[in-house]
Amino acid sequence: MNSHELFERSKKVSPGGVHSPVRSFRSVGGDPVFFKSAEGAYLTSVEGRRYIDFCQSFGPNILGHRDPDVENVVRAAIGEAWTFGACEPYSLELAEWITTRLPFVESIRFVCSGTEAVMTALRIARAATGRDLILKFDGCYHGHADSLLVRAGSGLAGVSASDSAGVPATIAEATLVCPLDDETAFEETMKCFGDRVAAVILEPLPANYGLLPQRREWIENVTKIARARGALVIFDEVISGFRVALGGMAETLGMQPDLVTYGKVIGGGFPIGAYAGRRELMELVAPAGAVYQAGTLAANPIGTRAGLATLKKIENRHVYKELESRSRAFVEQLTAGFAKADVPICISRVGSIFWFHLRAEPTRGDLSGSDADGSTIRRPDRMSPRTREWYAKFFHRCLGGGVYLAPSPYEVGFISLAHTPEILREAGDTIVAAAAQ
Ligand SMILES: Cc1ncc(COP(=O)(O)O)c(C=O)c1O
Repeated sequence: MNSHELFERSKKVSPGGVHSPVRSFRSVGGDPVFFKSAEGAYLTSVEGRRYIDFCQSFGPNILGHRDPDVENVVRAAIGEAWTFGACEPYSLELAEWITTRLPFVESIRFVCSGTEAVMTALRIARAATGRDLILKFDGCYHGHADSLLVRAGSGLAGVSASDSAGVPATIAEATLVCPLDDETAFEETMKCFGDRVAAVILEPLPANYGLLPQRREWIENVTKIARARGALVIFDEVISGFRVALGGMAETLGMQPDLVTYGKVIGGGFPIGAYAGRRELMELVAPAGAVYQAGTLAANPIGTRAGLATLKKIENRHVYKELESRSRAFVEQLTAGFAKADVPICISRVGSIFWFHLRAEPTRGDLSGSDADGSTIRRPDRMSPRTREWYAKFFHRCLGGGVYLAPSPYEVGFISLAHTPEILREAGDTIVAAAAQ
């Protein structure tokens, strides 16, 4: 069966034919490609066509698909136990490995997804402060918990309504939303509501509405103002954690969030998320404290062992250094190619995360939210109104050339250790040709 036939079948048994909206091709048009296998930097479709994959399951595969060292660990793990629902040494080993390396992680608990991690971090913040409100930033996505489906990113950015149906108004009202890159708006909001805000949550590297790198001063100011008003600061590092550095953006910026959430890379491609932070906050969680959170498959041994194998390899093989130099060369090739073809496509990049976008079109006289030349965007409202139309064509030309990008203009791309310089050069040629068409 080909992808089209499988999609027709899938639509009959699952909503929209997919199990997560970002897998559908609604933003770019056409039927999604169905894949049957993956290895390293490549995906193979059910039709037998190979694609260089820059989606990499939306981030977890920092070593590429089925890294051989991780695969060996997983095979051994499967021979021992799939799940215990009881205490075991594997999650302890991962927890110790992380807590001995990240100073702001004194205690950590593993869950099954980033959404779960964020949901619980907010619950802890509310319990710790005795306050109800949460403040998030427009364009940051923190998973699909009710209170956070307010002006989120990624899948929602492609839909006209910014809120999900089915979220009670009373829950949405407990979430305040401020613009990114705007200290004044944040300060004013905190002046009005600060004494009711339990936590300010942010992606310190927003990567769910495109890649919107923030100014260091903005992140520092937000943290300072939040704390001055008695609110906790939660860094949602589900994408950036263990991706831009072991300690994510917190390490890169030299900052210590009160709580931090992880997902993706931490499970090496298996469903693991985590929330972590200061011991006295974490000790509020059951059975130590009164904040309830539990999970049948939490700290699944296959996932924690795959995660630890991934993190150890990252450390031992100096993977961030390697990814940085390969990613830089890739972006330089693309930038030169786009300039030669005279197309207004820019690339934002932080480490091995990149994002293609059209040059920002600041409203007259207002350059905030983007760099002066429009090559870096820091706020969703700076994205060109032509983005969707342009990306749909660009995406399909890349796909036709054998390069699989995320099927949405609001999703970022990921480079893995399996993307060798040769593979990146080949992909770069395809992408430049697609842009120039
Ligand atoms: C920053 C951030 N937080 C939370 C989540 C939710 O994680 P999950 O999809 O594992 O539930 C995501 C997912 O993309 C994310 O990027």
